[in-house]
Amino acid sequence: MPNFKQIHNAEDLRRAAARYLPKPVFDFIDGGAEDEVALRNNRAVFERVRFRPRTMADVSSRSLATTLLGQPSAAPIAIAPMGGLSNFAPAAELAMARACAAAGIPYCLSTAAGISIEDLRAAVPDARLWYQLYVFKDDRVNEGIVRRAQAAGYEALMVTTDTHVGPKRERDRRNGFTLTLERTPRNVARVLARPRWVWDVLIRAGLPSMPNLTPYAPEVVDSLSATKYFIENRRYAFDYDHLRAVRKLWNGKLLVKGVLRPDEAVRIMECGGDGVVLSNHGGRNLESSAAPLEMLPEVVDAVGRKMHVLIDSGFRRGTDVVKALALGAEGVLMGRPAAFAAAAGGEAGVAHLIGLMKDEIDRTLGYLGCTAIDQIERDHVLIDHGFP
Ligand code: FNR
Repeated sequence: MPNFKQIHNAEDLRRAAARYLPKPVFDFIDGGAEDEVALRNNRAVFERVRFRPRTMADVSSRSLATTLLGQPSAAPIAIAPMGGLSNFAPAAELAMARACAAAGIPYCLSTAAGISIEDLRAAVPDARLWYQLYVFKDDRVNEGIVRRAQAAGYEALMVTTDTHVGPKRERDRRNGFTLTLERTPRNVARVLARPRWVWDVLIRAGLPSMPNLTPYAPEVVDSLSATKYFIENRRYAFDYDHLRAVRKLWNGKLLVKGVLRPDEAVRIMECGGDGVVLSNHGGRNLESSAAPLEMLPEVVDAVGRKMHVLIDSGFRRGTDVVKALALGAEGVLMGRPAAFAAAAGGEAGVAHLIGLMKDEIDRTLGYLGCTAIDQIERDHVLIDHGFP
């Protein structure tokens, strides 16, 4: 467990996680596609947005309380869906969900999670939970997953559409890391640098690591693992007809994650979508993809307040979050920082991260002359020429 007194920001947590994780696992979380231009730009873009603070104000008492997808949230942040984490920390999802519940913010479970929809709900009965869906070729599997999420009281369904093609993440290729890596002793030894992790993985070898697939896909039980089923049976297609079909199944908020274009956001709204998550998957898929922050003003102009607009990719600071809110986002999802926090410090690590983010958002709010989230306006930022 790291010394939290010395962990002052998300980057400190990343460095702490690098000490706990074997290099291939760290790289799987940390890395991006190809030359990692999209990954770097996701961060660089925040430097092109700067604040225009109001100073003549009484900001002695401030609140971060807001609404996300129409329900109260203690802060305008949530944790993004991340799959594959069970490969390094079986309890990562649980740690993240518990920390979110305690902090009063939503948590989004991935289809590729290592804990089942129902087990997570049972562990955090009062939490705000969202579910991220990767669709499968067999619609019975999709339907089964959606119905289970509904029955377990997940309030939003997020269909991810930016992963229709397998990504080219070169760090993973160099490290020999894949999610379907058969956990033979030889592979384990090749991939994992540190002996304690070899034992850790060996102990867990053979367990299906994506339990959400098993009950509705009997063939999974006989296959090598649910992870293999996940990779081999995904449908790499999701269009507006599919969206209309999911809309009929799902009663809660329905969002599409991975959108970057205003025309798509409008069309999603017309097909019954309640919102979009602007995302380039944290720079992990399409190399040289625009940063979601760059596309935010255009999307907000196109859909106005008629849709929930969430955003992720590259958010590491409270100031980053406030910039997105000023440009019209309702809330921000955090990916890697939460994974690193869970790896370095479990639930306490994630709680620490959320605390740091809340503190920085609160501080920024005060500097801008605001006492509440809904006072953050477009007028509070200036953006460099070249920003669309
Ligand atoms: C992801 N992401 C992701 N997205 C999704 O819709 N389903 C998933 O299963 C996963 N899995 C996943 C695993 C790991 C290790 C990472 C780092 C990311 C993408 C994630 O939801 C989010 O869009 C990005 O992580 C946001 O960018 P930052 O905050 O990581 O920069």
